[in-house]
Amino acid sequence: MPSPEEPALFSLAGKVAVVTGAASGIGLATARRFAAAGATVVLSDINDATDEASDLGADFLAVDVSEEDSVASLVASVVEAHGRLDVMVNNAGVLLTAKGIDADSTDDVRRMIDVNLFGVLFGMRHASRAMGPGGAIVNTASMAGIVGFPGLSAYGASKWGVVGLTRHAAVELGPLGIRANCVCPTGVATPMVGSDLDHWAVRSQVLAHQHTDRLATVDDVAAAIHYLASDDASMVNGHALWVDGGLGAGMSIEMIEAAVGGSIRDGTAIIE
Ligand SMILES: NC(=O)c1ccc[n+]([C@@H]2O[C@H](COP(=O)([O-])OP(=O)(O)OC[C@H]3O[C@@H](n4cnc5c(N)ncnc54)[C@H](O)[C@@H]3O)[C@@H](O)[C@H]2O)c1
Repeated sequence: MPSPEEPALFSLAGKVAVVTGAASGIGLATARRFAAAGATVVLSDINDATDEASDLGADFLAVDVSEEDSVASLVASVVEAHGRLDVMVNNAGVLLTAKGIDADSTDDVRRMIDVNLFGVLFGMRHASRAMGPGGAIVNTASMAGIVGFPGLSAYGASKWGVVGLTRHAAVELGPLGIRANCVCPTGVATPMVGSDLDHWAVRSQVLAHQHTDRLATVDDVAAAIHYLASDDASMVNGHALWVDGGLGAGMSIEMIEAAVGGSIRDGTAIIE
């Protein structure tokens, strides 16, 4: 519990933390941040991240989060090596198709549900069995689990499920002293979305929906995960923290002006 006399300042000292999807993007940024905050971090991914882990003085353990046995053995190995588990970040995810309800391949949709939704369920199940009071689970959902985006119905369904699972887990695990929260990032340029977000046209579309002058970065998301994982957030449970530059708050001026013509700022918007 944070105290005014001894502010915790988001310290993770003494905590053992696992981050899945830690070979890249948001997960790697989170692992770096956790290490800087004093945690003993275990990076875990389906791809090798031994070098990234050793740069942080951390361990790497392979996992396929869509396979329950693999997740169970990850958690068991962490507890065997470090004696405890305090923080579980269920962050591994895939975006395999964005063609929409009519054209998404069913195999792709199933795989996204397996990784993005079952992966989080397995992570929460096995981590919560290993955690004691004070444990913190943070899941990576998405703004596609909060609002609709053209083409992202299947990915969005998996992430909508993550938001729901997180809330239910908070209710189930809260009495055990374990918190469960999730973050909902807007678009972030990572390998998962390819170089699309670096393209000027996509950048301008994203920025027109947000209320910021820049795109979100992996470090913006890692900072939110860090907060939710820390004891400073010990009264925050079942929350979906939007890291979205205001995208979910409402329409931007640019969107309204594009729809009605003219400029709201100089009073020439055409509203009849
Ligand atoms: N980049 C975005 O715009 C964005 C927006 C909202 C949410 N997210 C979510 O953020 C999380 C991290 O994605 P990212 O953007 O950093 O992408 P990324 O591709 O950089 O990282 C995802 C990591 O997950 C790993 N992974 C994939 N399948 C796995 C499996 N079955 N088991 C274990 N690891 C697996 C990958 O190897 C990769 O290292 C994902 O859950 C993603 O859905 C991303």
